[in-house]
Amino acid sequence: MREAIVEPIVVVGAGIAGLSLALAAAPAPVLLLSRSVGDGGKASGMAQGGIAAAIGAGDSPAAHAHDTLVAGAGHNDAARVHWLCAQAPAAIAWLASLGVAFDRAADGRLQLGREGGHGVARIVHAGGDASGARVMQALRERARAAAHVHWREGVDVEALLLRGQAARGVRVRAGDGSTCEIMARAVVLASGGIGALFARTSNPPGADGSGLALGIAAGAQLRDMEFVQFHPTALDLPGVHCLPLITEALRGAGARLCDEHGSPLMDGIDPRGDLAPRDVVSRAVWRAAQRGQRVLLDARKVAGDWHERFPTVLASCRQHGIDPREQPIPVTPAAHFHMGGLAVDADGNTSVPGLHAIGEVACNGVHGGNRLASNSLLEGVLCGRRLGTALAMRDGWPARGSSRWIERGTGLDEHRLRWLRQLLWNAAGPVRTRRDLADAWAACLQAGREGWQARLAGAIVQAALRRDRSLGAHWREDDTSASIPERMAVRA
Ligand code: SIN
Repeated sequence: MREAIVEPIVVVGAGIAGLSLALAAAPAPVLLLSRSVGDGGKASGMAQGGIAAAIGAGDSPAAHAHDTLVAGAGHNDAARVHWLCAQAPAAIAWLASLGVAFDRAADGRLQLGREGGHGVARIVHAGGDASGARVMQALRERARAAAHVHWREGVDVEALLLRGQAARGVRVRAGDGSTCEIMARAVVLASGGIGALFARTSNPPGADGSGLALGIAAGAQLRDMEFVQFHPTALDLPGVHCLPLITEALRGAGARLCDEHGSPLMDGIDPRGDLAPRDVVSRAVWRAAQRGQRVLLDARKVAGDWHERFPTVLASCRQHGIDPREQPIPVTPAAHFHMGGLAVDADGNTSVPGLHAIGEVACNGVHGGNRLASNSLLEGVLCGRRLGTALAMRDGWPARGSSRWIERGTGLDEHRLRWLRQLLWNAAGPVRTRRDLADAWAACLQAGREGWQARLAGAIVQAALRRDRSLGAHWREDDTSASIPERMAVRA
């Protein structure tokens, strides 16, 4: 089947970044393409943390930027960090204007929560730990009602059309195997992260880097591929790949990590204790597990109504026979967020003309070596809106020269995928060594002929191998330099 659609802005992915872009691009026609159908399957909708914004008394965008730079180990692009933090209050106001009902105190003021790495309480939530779902619901309703936005769900974008040097279209494959070529005035990858390439992840199964792999196939430049954030507290369900997240906001509300005898885990590891940045806490949980200890999150003293504050955590724990109000929750680190990706400038332009990237698939340097909690939905909203506004005013890249299709290529079968996930988890997880990375790279090179996931994994492993010093979420256990700082002091 072939059908032609007249040159919309084609957006691959309908998470928070893609939807924000689509709304901002009005009246330019936008076509949203997503693999999942309906509300599920998107990492944005599963986000529990909320959105960070300096709106509390005594807080400031400069303080938010400082915390972002410290969490990012100073590897961030400082100008972009300051832009993000300065724009954050306006992002909250925009979402509220779309109907997102953020949680408020009795006096009507926004409630502000605290998460790891933040010096003050500055996280805005909606529906307690259901923030991502609430924000997505509002954005989706607006986008569905917008005359300039069209959708195709349940399709996989398997190839990019380059005309001359510029991206001018995509080919999609539907569930029934039929394909369709779609011409575009611009192609935007908003396809999310890579967590599902690891054996343990807080991401949905679709976060497998398929958009990133397409960008790589097209020759787009990469940046910071080695920086993968591991969340310290996913629900520990042995043998399960995609694990329910246990939000960090629980630790902000007083929950404590401990061993099975009740001894606090973070004592003596970091002065910030349970609210140390995620990489520090993840490594502590990982090391305890390597010693054969079971790590538990004791949230029994968390005050307030769990149905209001933590409905998502409560439901997922209860689904697995755990009542977190009465018993500690078994936890494990899990691949959570990719700071690296397709290198983009401040507007979301990749090195391939006409090909853009926003959200987790992109790397604009804002997160540095480690993303600060609750900065990702924020980035999705702000970068999506910025690119959408810019594209609405731009014509398509001049369509001169011959056309060629860039294929992502075949994928690994399920058996080999399971092998690859375990390989990445062991070699490129929260704690890495040269020897494990070198072995994993050799294995990825060999498997690269079998499927695109192995080639993508190879790019992550190769970058991790090259960076032989620990930085941010990238921890090289074999970096024996005497003064490895767990955190670099950064002056914002
Ligand atoms: C969490 O709720 O712990 C995750 C929030 C985030 O990833 O920023």
